[in-house]
Amino acid sequence: MSRASADADDGDGDGDLRGVIEFVEDRVPFEPGYYNEAYLGRRIAARMQRRDADDHAEYRALLERDDEEREALLDALTINVTGFFRDPDMWADLRPVLRELSAENGRDGVDVWSAPCADGREPYSLSMLAADDPEVDERRVRIVAVDISEEALEAARVGLYETTRTTDIGEELAPLSNPEAYVEREGDTFRVRESVKSRVTFEPYDLVSDGAKGGMDLVFCRNLLIYIDSEYKEPLFETLRDSIRPGGYLVLGKTETVPPGCRDAFEPVEKRSRIYRYTG
Ligand SMILES: C[S@@+](CC[C@H](N)C(=O)[O-])C[C@H]1O[C@@H](n2cnc3c(N)ncnc32)[C@H](O)[C@@H]1O
Repeated sequence: MSRASADADDGDGDGDLRGVIEFVEDRVPFEPGYYNEAYLGRRIAARMQRRDADDHAEYRALLERDDEEREALLDALTINVTGFFRDPDMWADLRPVLRELSAENGRDGVDVWSAPCADGREPYSLSMLAADDPEVDERRVRIVAVDISEEALEAARVGLYETTRTTDIGEELAPLSNPEAYVEREGDTFRVRESVKSRVTFEPYDLVSDGAKGGMDLVFCRNLLIYIDSEYKEPLFETLRDSIRPGGYLVLGKTETVPPGCRDAFEPVEKRSRIYRYTG
């Protein structure tokens, strides 16, 4: 039994949530044990409300008989919220870091890991920023972008994004001096140009169990740690640490921090932006 399942069975009456989590474990291609129970509970509750299920038992029965609901739940559990230049202050603070890395002599390029990358907007933002900043040599920048979700990676490789009621892509690209140089726009649809794509490679990767990449100059791990169960946080963080070369940089999400056991090795470059230098 996973940690999340065990925690849900705490005898205070939410054992039905455990039933749903166990169902997910067995019948939905998702590993609930990685994620914290509060997060799982919220996502499941949102689906229950949507389907008018009065309690967990009723929702579980619905999952048993309804293929589409299983798909919808999988969709809801996969935390795929992202954006171009998400947290614009961070991207502004990142420019000097990128300039420094690109100017470093004696290295054959700047290796970046975007982990996790969701639908590609994070690694494409970096690729665009490198080309947009006159002090960065974008030809030296190589980005490996990974995610556990094949569906997200598929969308990322296509590189087509649409303005909707909740997402204004044109607005997301505002930090660029000349967005048209990086995306081809047709009405509400934005296609990432080949020049931007050429610096990014996408790969499937499980950041909890696949281990470190090694030798990276810059690692982004934004907005995943917040969902991860405490049991897996430290190992995940060690994976990040072991992927960065000494002197390289780490960027976390706006509400994420370096775990206490690793703080000595990471000095904040910009605390508000969660950019850290790995001292080794
Ligand atoms: C909220 S998005 C973050 C995307 C981007 N870093 C950002 O901040 O905008 C979280 C992503 O983590 C991915 N993910 C969840 N568990 C993962 C794991 N164990 N290994 C790799 N990626 C994972 C999800 O598929 C999702 O695309």
